[in-house]
Amino acid sequence: MTNTSDDVDDDDGQRVALVTGAASGIGRAAARLFAREGVRVVVGDVDEVGLAQTVKLVGDEGGEAVACTVDVSDDPSVADFVATAVDRFGRLDAAFNNAGVSPVAKGFTEHTLDEWQRTIDVNLTGVFLCMQHELRVMVEQRRGAIVNTSSGAGVVAAPGQPQYTAAKHGVLGLTKAAAQEYARAGIRVNAILPGMTDTTMMQDYLQEHAAMVKMLPMGRLATAEEVAKAAVWLCSDEASYISGSSLVVDGATICR
Ligand code: NAI
Repeated sequence: MTNTSDDVDDDDGQRVALVTGAASGIGRAAARLFAREGVRVVVGDVDEVGLAQTVKLVGDEGGEAVACTVDVSDDPSVADFVATAVDRFGRLDAAFNNAGVSPVAKGFTEHTLDEWQRTIDVNLTGVFLCMQHELRVMVEQRRGAIVNTSSGAGVVAAPGQPQYTAAKHGVLGLTKAAAQEYARAGIRVNAILPGMTDTTMMQDYLQEHAAMVKMLPMGRLATAEEVAKAAVWLCSDEASYISGSSLVVDGATICR
């Protein structure tokens, strides 16, 4: 993260970022990008094996990553995750709240309450819990940047996924609420809205809907790195006056 203004940040020590959902896909790509910019990353996920691979990839590129198993839907687990960064490095400059799950698509009335709850727990409550713990640290520092992963489904409906749609709309609400409340505390809060991205999450869907890809405006999926770049940039001082915004990263898919 490039420092561009003394007004924004007079602390030129090595920065620290949290990334959830970092065992795979967009989160892993973000961890690698942060590390390439000299940021130390604490990477969290439920998937320990994937996390270890992320730590290795970051290390192989000369960066520093610490793995921390976390279930973002569990408050004590999130508290430990955020505390790991602060205990280990004594600061928290950026947080990318990105972990998510995608439910099987089916008719609105066919979804069970359990299916509803799981998606809401991870995709919405998980972001809320992470933000609460991160904001408490950032308020003390009087600085910080948070980016939450929403989706195109944050502004248009994902067919057959009402709970995913509701959760991703909700992430934008959480983002706006915190952005306004914490603007004077020196904390910026933004969201990214990825379009269809080439990650594990998309693989099952593509097995049945491969033809969809050619219909996308750019005729291809986003790469995880293309999406992660937007999140890492929003965390940087290059985005010092951007807060409360929703950055669509979807190659013109939902702009019609
Ligand atoms: P992915 O499946 O590669 O990564 C998601 C990660 O979240 C996995 O490593 C998974 O283990 C982790 N995770 C799941 N539940 C968790 C929990 N309770 N606690 C901690 N970690 C947990 O998928 P991808 O694509 O990288 O997804 C990242 C985010 O991007 C998600 O929020 C997803 O909803 C969002 N997104 C993805 C799109 C796509 O086309 N791939 C499109 C729009 C949004």
